[in-house]
Amino acid sequence: MDGNGRWAQKQGLPRIAGHEAGVQCIQGILETLAPKGVKFVTLYAFSTENWGRPQEEVDGIMDVFSEAVASQTQALHEKNVRIVHVGKTENLNPDLREAVAEAQRLTRNNTGITLNVAFDYGGRAEILEAVRRIIKDGLDPDVIDEELFSRYLFTAHCPDPDLIIRTGGEQRISNFLLWQSAYSEIYHTPTLWPDLGADELEEVLVSFSLRRRRYGGLNPEDQSPEDQAPEARAPQK
Ligand code: FPP
Repeated sequence: MDGNGRWAQKQGLPRIAGHEAGVQCIQGILETLAPKGVKFVTLYAFSTENWGRPQEEVDGIMDVFSEAVASQTQALHEKNVRIVHVGKTENLNPDLREAVAEAQRLTRNNTGITLNVAFDYGGRAEILEAVRRIIKDGLDPDVIDEELFSRYLFTAHCPDPDLIIRTGGEQRISNFLLWQSAYSEIYHTPTLWPDLGADELEEVLVSFSLRRRRYGGLNPEDQSPEDQAPEARAPQK
């Protein structure tokens, strides 16, 4: 959700107004993506590193998040959205922790889009936590493969992201889904998060659909006849 602060500052508003505007565009984004067949959307709302922001801004973001959970959960539930928190819960204040848990309980059987809210999320912390839990579970090292490891991550309920959209012009991954993004396509845009609208999202999906994903391998069209075994080549006349 990069660019909330700059969006507000450009309009002479306090940064927190940008975070409020950033929440207002979430439902529109889901309404654009759901009919296109998108099943999972993960919003990177608050990273483990964001605790280092000035206390006033951190408090403001917590208030905006609490207010969003209180005011938007029911509407999302009515739209069949499943809400899942991705990240640590122990540093959230108990009321917010309970409100997030209740939003998850209420929407857990919904079958529409899954909205992952990454809040107090950090990719490195997530990987370390998975390692700790695997050790505590006493697993035999020989049974630990990528599939099992993925099940120890906060995102065990969903596939790896096909596409990561980074708004606000940044060209970094910033500790987001480090394990899960191994083969994600990445789309960078200078658009500030509150300005990300349906038109640009549709362009993003078209651009994604034109990408050729190879996962480190080769697609048949990447090979020339000279790369094929002699017996597989078309006969020479
Ligand atoms: C990034 O913009 C945004 C944040 C650090 C906070 C976003 C969190 C919320 C809006 C809380 C509610 C979230 C949900 C999902 C309901 P930035 O401050 O880094 O903006 P900048 O790059 O312009 O400085």
